[in-house]
Amino acid sequence: MNTITKNITEKSIYASNNGMYGPYGGMFVPPVLEQKLLQLAEIFESQKGTSGFEQELAYYLKSFVGRPSPLFYAHRLSKHIGSKIYLKREDLNHTGSHKINNTIGQILLAKRMGASEIVAETGAGQHGVATATAAALFGMKCKVFMGSRDAERQKMNVSRIKMLGAEMVIVEAGRGTLKNAVDAALGYYIEHPDVFYLLGSQVGPHPYPTMVGYFQSVIGREARKQLLEAEGRLPDNLIACIGGGSNAIGLFTDFLDEESVRIFAAEGGGEGPVFGKTAATLSMGKPGVFQGTYSYALSDEAGEVYPTASIAAGLDYPGVSPQHALLKDTGRASYHLITDKEAIEAYYLLSKLEGIIPAIESSHAIALACKILKGKPNEISIINLSGRGDKDVERDLS
Ligand SMILES: Cc1ncc(COP(=O)(O)O)c(C=O)c1O
Repeated sequence: MNTITKNITEKSIYASNNGMYGPYGGMFVPPVLEQKLLQLAEIFESQKGTSGFEQELAYYLKSFVGRPSPLFYAHRLSKHIGSKIYLKREDLNHTGSHKINNTIGQILLAKRMGASEIVAETGAGQHGVATATAAALFGMKCKVFMGSRDAERQKMNVSRIKMLGAEMVIVEAGRGTLKNAVDAALGYYIEHPDVFYLLGSQVGPHPYPTMVGYFQSVIGREARKQLLEAEGRLPDNLIACIGGGSNAIGLFTDFLDEESVRIFAAEGGGEGPVFGKTAATLSMGKPGVFQGTYSYALSDEAGEVYPTASIAAGLDYPGVSPQHALLKDTGRASYHLITDKEAIEAYYLLSKLEGIIPAIESSHAIALACKILKGKPNEISIINLSGRGDKDVERDLS
């Protein structure tokens, strides 16, 4: 088959089968949420692919978000690494990251379900900002849960969320990170099942991993077309950072069935491969049920999750997408631990080489590219630049 003009007739083995990705995925929730999530899955399945829904989504992605995001040939970074690198500029989206793609998709479903209140969790604050933005756009009430440590290290996004009219709920539990924000948001959802829970990553119970993957897949569809226009061929490598997995799956989906395309993801490695000092879930974790889904988690023998640590609030999470769990097990994608130190070096490197300040999350992908692409002058790679670094500029990252 001509890989450039492929036409997928069979369903990819990596796609969701009713919320399952091989053995991973599913819906592990109390009965009060089960009905609600089944209803959400039904609405999603009935809307996706219909011209009314897709046209409305495309309208907002183009006129409000600013899509398509450019694919930029990073010539100085390419020279530095010794390999040809393109950056998919999700940092240029309205609100500054890929999170808005999923947020617009889900809020259109919320509208169809007649929801009047939106609830979300946030780590780096980018999903909180994107959700507060979408809620303002459609005149909906919005509540954002954020861990206290994250609120402290991503202050600018806390101000933005409030400015957009959303209520901020600061979560003091645990280490005050994304896990604690998800726990609190899920708890609120269980007590108020009539709200719409707008989940920001490819995690949680069915149908969220499927929905989030679907709404983010626009990234890879655009990138494929843009690279074919620029180079007349598919990339050799794709690289993205991975927290819960949404920007990574967004870039990867359109290439999963292309055997010639190698796929890499960079995890928040923190201080290194030591439990309690890392957030590298796929590199160091094991399968288990966590926050409503069966996937990898950073947990001990008793199933208790370890505290996590990463310089990047958006990667500082002990769970991960069930689809990425399958991609790891099948060897279709490989997952690599990038330390805080390596990410910080890449953060400054890209700023100085290309005039682009990346989010500290996205800097993990740049760091991984620096490690694996050296001395590959004939290869072409796409790195997903998932967000911009304005939120990190005031932090002391030295
Ligand atoms: C800019 C940016 N990139 C990446 C991530 C990680 O999330 P995901 O793995 O869902 O893309 C986040 C999360 O907040 C983020 O803000």
